[in-house]
Amino acid sequence: MFCKASLLTVALALIASATPITKPAGIRIPIQKRSGLTKADGTADRDAILRERVRVQNKHRNNLITIDRKMGLENYHVGAHIPPVATLPEHLQKRQSESLTDQQSEEWTGTVAIGSQSFIIDFDTGSSDLWVPSSDCSSCQTQDTYDPSSSSSSEEQSGTFAISYGDGSTASGPIYKDHVESVAGVSVTGQTFSAVTSESGDLVGGPFDGLMGMAWPALSELNADPFFWTAISQGVVSEGVFGFYLSDSDSELYLGGTNSSLYTGDLEYHDLVSSAGFWTIGGASAIVNGQTVNSDFETIIDSGTTLMYGPTDAVAKFYSGINGAQSLGSGLYGIPCDSFPTVAISWGGSTFTISPNAFNLGNAGDGLCYAALGGENFGFGDNVWLLGDTLMQSVYTAFSVDKYAVGFANLA
Ligand SMILES: *[C@@H]1O[C@H](CO)[C@@H](O)[C@H](O)[C@H]1NC(C)=O
Repeated sequence: MFCKASLLTVALALIASATPITKPAGIRIPIQKRSGLTKADGTADRDAILRERVRVQNKHRNNLITIDRKMGLENYHVGAHIPPVATLPEHLQKRQSESLTDQQSEEWTGTVAIGSQSFIIDFDTGSSDLWVPSSDCSSCQTQDTYDPSSSSSSEEQSGTFAISYGDGSTASGPIYKDHVESVAGVSVTGQTFSAVTSESGDLVGGPFDGLMGMAWPALSELNADPFFWTAISQGVVSEGVFGFYLSDSDSELYLGGTNSSLYTGDLEYHDLVSSAGFWTIGGASAIVNGQTVNSDFETIIDSGTTLMYGPTDAVAKFYSGINGAQSLGSGLYGIPCDSFPTVAISWGGSTFTISPNAFNLGNAGDGLCYAALGGENFGFGDNVWLLGDTLMQSVYTAFSVDKYAVGFANLA
């Protein structure tokens, strides 16, 4: 009897392991767009655009300092350097004390629980650390804070986390490990993160609590696996890939797969060209009204950057063929609002058109509208462009740790 029962148990166990478990292919995290760079009346918010550029430049300056410390910039990329600290134009510097809601740039945020507390988190494929405000932070302008004493799974680590963007924007605080769970239930244990006890300047730049870095471990200041890498190693996602769908409504981050109902055809994957930690792919061309204007450049795909930026010379060349385009200072360009060109990017396969809505940032006066590609030498090196949400709103984007590649597909 005993023998039969245990045989039966073994048989059932064998059946269970042979039957594919119908685990969902991935987990959907709803995300929201917080604000934008175009005002309600259709004019472009130049101040918000300038703030965004300074924030992005200093964020990546911090990344370049990390790369330099870990591997040496000379081993990273030809022409890579640490650029000077970017500062806000004077008329914006005086507004530090204003509430963050007036200083926001465009961010894509969703909810994540750490320990027993929920946070509104910016999902950033352009950095690799997780941090949220600590309950001990008096300078943090957010409601949700991490209190290690109220989480039984909290474990304090040695050392301190500090990021300084050089313009006075800093965040620093102790380091912990704790459970981290996305709303829909990708749950990991022992995730390293920082609960910052001080925060200043334009570091956050939006009404969210903290940031979840989704770039590679090599960029981590904390020298820790980012959340998604922890999820892979703990086996809580079925595939090492996540997908972003950024739209005016129903945007989502999909963890552990891609949501094929949101795109058409197959994803076109391109291998990463760098082990430095960014999601960088090469062989890119910029196409204006069907004509290739720039070719064979590399692109960093960064959900934490709103616009697109290229080296100043390359971007000047990009605009030189567009009728009526002109420089509007600070690396920004305007194009006659009534004759916006069709802009597309290709990585050697399909041509992906940038959504006209995303490319036109709104009225700049004199019949011109700001365009979403700026010229800026961020220090990534020769021929490297930084493509943010302007691109990601135009395509479905898949970030594959398994394939060491970024994939794109046209939206459904
Ligand atoms: C995929 O996206 C669609 C459209 O937003 C959504 O309804 C669906 O729930 C998503 N699929 C999964 C498995 O989450």
